[in-house]
Amino acid sequence: MKHNELTRRRTFGIISHPDAGKTTLTEKLLLFGGAIHTAGAVKSNKITKTATSDFMEIEKQRGISVATSVMGFEYKGYKVNILDTPGHKDFAEDTYRTLTAVDSVILVIDCVKGVEEQTRKLMNVCRMRSIPVIVFINKMDREGRDPFELLDELERELGIHTRPLTWPIGIGVRFQGVYNLFEKQLELFSPNKTRISDDIVAIDDIASPLLDEHIGADSAAKLREEIGIIEGVYEQFNEEHYREAYLAPVFFGSAINNFGVKELLDTFVKIAPFPQPRETSIRKVDPAESSFSGFIFKIHANLDPNHRDRIAFCRVCSGKFERNKYYYHTRLEKELRFATPTSFMANEKSIIDEAWPGDVVGLYDTGYFKIGDTLTEGEQFVFKGIPRFSPEIFRQLINRNPFKAKQLDKGIRQLSDEGVAQLFLRQQGNVKIVGTVGEMQFEVIKFRLLHEYGAECDLQSLNIYKAFWFTSVNKEQFERFLSFQNPHIAYDKDDHPVFLAEGTWSFHTAQEMFPDIVFHLTSEFKHDTDIVQSIGQWGTS
Ligand code: G4P
Repeated sequence: MKHNELTRRRTFGIISHPDAGKTTLTEKLLLFGGAIHTAGAVKSNKITKTATSDFMEIEKQRGISVATSVMGFEYKGYKVNILDTPGHKDFAEDTYRTLTAVDSVILVIDCVKGVEEQTRKLMNVCRMRSIPVIVFINKMDREGRDPFELLDELERELGIHTRPLTWPIGIGVRFQGVYNLFEKQLELFSPNKTRISDDIVAIDDIASPLLDEHIGADSAAKLREEIGIIEGVYEQFNEEHYREAYLAPVFFGSAINNFGVKELLDTFVKIAPFPQPRETSIRKVDPAESSFSGFIFKIHANLDPNHRDRIAFCRVCSGKFERNKYYYHTRLEKELRFATPTSFMANEKSIIDEAWPGDVVGLYDTGYFKIGDTLTEGEQFVFKGIPRFSPEIFRQLINRNPFKAKQLDKGIRQLSDEGVAQLFLRQQGNVKIVGTVGEMQFEVIKFRLLHEYGAECDLQSLNIYKAFWFTSVNKEQFERFLSFQNPHIAYDKDDHPVFLAEGTWSFHTAQEMFPDIVFHLTSEFKHDTDIVQSIGQWGTS
């Protein structure tokens, strides 16, 4: 296929449980792409573990990370866009939203730890959106778990089918390298943090004595046996199955030693999908259409009082975005023009004149945007697939200064538009409920309400476990549910009712009492039959 601006784009996210090696892998990919020249350049992107209680420190780091939110580079004729996802669990919602803007993901697993809590949650989001996944099993230089056991765990716990494309020879101090089943070559390992080429030996037939020469007879025999098992047990790799998110190819390597990273990148650009058609409220939009369209998936507000700017991140979905052209903001029904759209390239921001589907453009915003807003060349629609997820912690917002009620109201609404938190209104008692994924957001909210809006508030704990959006084809039961559960019903910012369950028990009771009600853990669902089967699916207990 001859590549054009659309088909040469690869927009993806790297996801992992913290510490599995996401930052290290990102950095090595950037080194290959020539986007950075020294190791350590993207470290500033990482929110350090020690800073967990100091959100201003974290904000400082996030400020730096705006520049690295999208890391674009050219590689072998492809334009690769890595969308950064914060590793810190309190910013998980940011990560979920970023996943609405990618076309595929690379999942990093620590070979010592295997599947971890964040891995499960992030993969649930990927499955929900049928995002194709490539797995990179990292830290093979450490004494990790048996590779077959790891693959079993991935299949069992993440509900994906796997197919190894490379296979490790030994592990930890005995790690000798990998055999690349896709390219039919032996890649030999030697620990090195800076090198970007590997020792590669072409071995078409693993029966070849060349294998014994390079890795020794014992390792060669073991490798032959294991490859026999792989060929017998795992399905053949099929690119279509991968792009349909049915099958996840698996690579083994060591990011810190730059081992297995180039193979990963080479295969990634070959097989990963370019931007695909996207659903909107009225029709599917094809990326090859000539008219521009895009949506906002992230808003970054600078907390530094000297730099009160906001940047809205727009993912281009179709056509060509051009600087200084008027575009139609479909929610506000307003034409907007952007004089300084920016692209992000590792640590540099630069003004761009045009962007293509798959690219992310940073738009300076003075308060026009909410997460999920759509821009077009005049057509009236909104992109679907940018849901809100049930928060994990809920607090009641209490005003501490009656003279500032209006400011508080405006402030909390704007913060919820930015995606800092979700706001629910409980009619009974006119209660404002703020929901977040992590404790830290509450500190951010209090601080910003005070410093930006002059509003003082308390955030009081509530006994709520999850927010469920719900639907039903049975109108009578729907109404009965609304009135029966009235004290536990609140409305989201689009005025849709949610059921605030106090625990798994109250959720299951509600399910039993109202069998025709369908519960959803996200604000957007395909159809009434698109049921969230069980709470367990979300890996929460
Ligand atoms: P994250 O973004 O997923 O949170 O992980 P990050 O890349 O920061 O890696 C977490 C730790 O794992 C780092 O060590 C990093 O050096 C190490 N690491 C990454 N890849 C490999 C690998 O292939 N092998 C081994 N043995 N270690 C690896 P740290 O001590 O927490 O940080 P640092 O002092 O090295 O920066």
